[in-house]
Amino acid sequence: MSRDNARPEKILLKVDDLHVAYGKAEVVHGVSLDVRAGEFVVVLGRNGAGKSTLMHAISGLVPKRGGTVTFEGQDLTHATPRQTVQAGIVQVLEGHRVFHTLTVEDNLLIGTYARTPHGDRSKLDAIYALFPEMAEKRHQMASRLSGGQQQILAVAQGVIGEPRLLILDEPSGGLAPLVVDRILSVASDLCKSGLAILLVEQLVEKALHHAHYAYLMETGRMVTAASSREIAQGDLLHRVFLGGGEPVDQVEVL
Ligand SMILES: Nc1ncnc2c1ncn2[C@@H]1O[C@H](COP(=O)(O)OP(=O)(O)OP(=O)(O)O)[C@@H](O)[C@H]1O
Ligand SMILES: [Mg+2]
Repeated sequence: MSRDNARPEKILLKVDDLHVAYGKAEVVHGVSLDVRAGEFVVVLGRNGAGKSTLMHAISGLVPKRGGTVTFEGQDLTHATPRQTVQAGIVQVLEGHRVFHTLTVEDNLLIGTYARTPHGDRSKLDAIYALFPEMAEKRHQMASRLSGGQQQILAVAQGVIGEPRLLILDEPSGGLAPLVVDRILSVASDLCKSGLAILLVEQLVEKALHHAHYAYLMETGRMVTAASSREIAQGDLLHRVFLGGGEPVDQVEVL
């Protein structure tokens, strides 16, 4: 995809005027966003802005109070998490959650269950080619992996389900910079091969370096949306992250 400011025309995911509440407390107040075919989109925002809640609502993990979610023209507003996965959206949750008492390979097979109830071993070779560090450890318990390896396993578990949109919620959480770079460059490569990416991230520089388009979220609302280049050069980013996030003086956009 070109790095100019024009977005691809084809809309994959469309979120319109989404409201989400926990009990009586609404935390997402009418958010709209879209992800286009072939795009790598990032949602930036400080702690508690509602980023994870927004992603959970898209995935059907929390109920929506209002608004709509459509994916490739299919209405997913009331879809269950399983229906969302079957429609082609897979979310890798915050906090590298994998099943500690299962092997790496069994964790990967779980990623195929939504489409194939007994697991699909035929997908393993392609995943090991993409994530060679997992091939070496295929028979190890996930509990024996480092935090970074567990996050890579979590991403691989998402990718093996063959989504058309992969949602990554703060894959950098608590991990060493080299691991973060590895995960984001895998995401970029996947995007180049046709998978759309929706990333939530607090590492602003790294996220803008890889993403094509960015949304800024503040206390449950989208405050701006523009190409990564424009966001990186704009003042709003400084305001949103004032007192938080990392400095954004020299964001190098690919
Ligand atoms: N299960 C829950 N029950 C009640 N309130 C919640 C729940 N989960 C999140 N919240 C609240 O909703 C708001 C948005 O939280 P959310 O986790 O979506 O933010 P976030 O942008 O993902 O933050 P972070 O960057 O820390 O992950 C916060 O005020 C949070 O305290
Ligand atoms: Mg979060």
